[in-house]
Amino acid sequence: MSAPGPALEGSDPRESVQRRVFVVGAGIMGSGIAAQCALSGYPVTLEDVSEELAQRGVDHARRAMDHAVDRKRIGPGERDAALGRIDLAIGLRRADTAQIVIEAAPEDLALKRRLFSELETATSPSALLASNTSSLPITSIGQELHDPGRLVGLHFFNPVLQMALVELIPGHRTRPEIVETARRFATSLGKTVVTSADTPGFVTTRAVAVLINEAAWMLFEGVATRDDIDTAYKLGFHHPMGPFELVDLVGIDTAVAILDVLWDGFRDSRYRACPLLRTMVSAKKLGRKTGEGFYRYPSPGGTS
Ligand SMILES: NC(=O)c1ccc[n+]([C@@H]2O[C@H](COP(=O)([O-])OP(=O)(O)OC[C@H]3O[C@@H](n4cnc5c(N)ncnc54)[C@H](O)[C@@H]3O)[C@@H](O)[C@H]2O)c1
Repeated sequence: MSAPGPALEGSDPRESVQRRVFVVGAGIMGSGIAAQCALSGYPVTLEDVSEELAQRGVDHARRAMDHAVDRKRIGPGERDAALGRIDLAIGLRRADTAQIVIEAAPEDLALKRRLFSELETATSPSALLASNTSSLPITSIGQELHDPGRLVGLHFFNPVLQMALVELIPGHRTRPEIVETARRFATSLGKTVVTSADTPGFVTTRAVAVLINEAAWMLFEGVATRDDIDTAYKLGFHHPMGPFELVDLVGIDTAVAILDVLWDGFRDSRYRACPLLRTMVSAKKLGRKTGEGFYRYPSPGGTS
């Protein structure tokens, strides 16, 4: 049986309803978001299209928490209690009791629009609807909703338990009280919140896309080697990872998809994806998830 969720910091104590979180998509981000919410005391339902995928998400959440225990960031008791707060679901039916819904399905505008149309009817009208999109404008995701005022962007970072930032993106129709609830919710997870206007890529994705693309162009043009470019970014700018290490972690397909969203949104040549990135996608060298990108990895999804 799940414990009641915490009251959101700064919220009116009279609204001390049980804050249940429903996470759509149990992949890299959904499982991390579920782990973070559960560790912060929220009962969480982690949903995907099949039981196998939802269970894989719970396993991923467990591994993320095990890592936090190994690093002594949390105790084993906290981990076990948090795992007890996560249950899984297939389909959106069980979203009806959630007050906070976070969508972490693939970065596909049509898919996200469809999911939110379904979520709009599957949830209570007072529930907050959030997308974890890393690049798609929130207003565009919500354009087919009857009440787009409920939808907001809450952009978490990978790995969720380790990354302190959440980007908050109010859409053009988002109601102020939904923005405020989203801010308080992210803060209650221990995250620092920055707010971005609803433009493609927001602040962070736009910044990192250009950084990665410029590195790919330099390699493509023969300006420097992969290792020298990665070393230059790390030692020259104190970046913890070089751009090729980073894009292997993010996924080269994801990086190209993001550049295409920025290109569509701004029609600015800054966002013209380097052909080298597209070739690597065609070759299925997507980074860590396929075992090879700019670097090789011992096993797909591996971390070394
Ligand atoms: N990977 C990152 O570093 C990162 C960082 C920040 C934001 N994001 C964003 O988060 C979102 C998810 O990215 P991810 O990397 O976790 O992707 P992922 O591919 O790891 O996970 C997506 C999950 O959604 C599931 N899914 C697909 N269709 C679904 C449906 N109709 N209903 C429910 N679940 C469905 C898939 O089965 C999969 O488990 C994207 O919008 C992405 O842009 C990703």
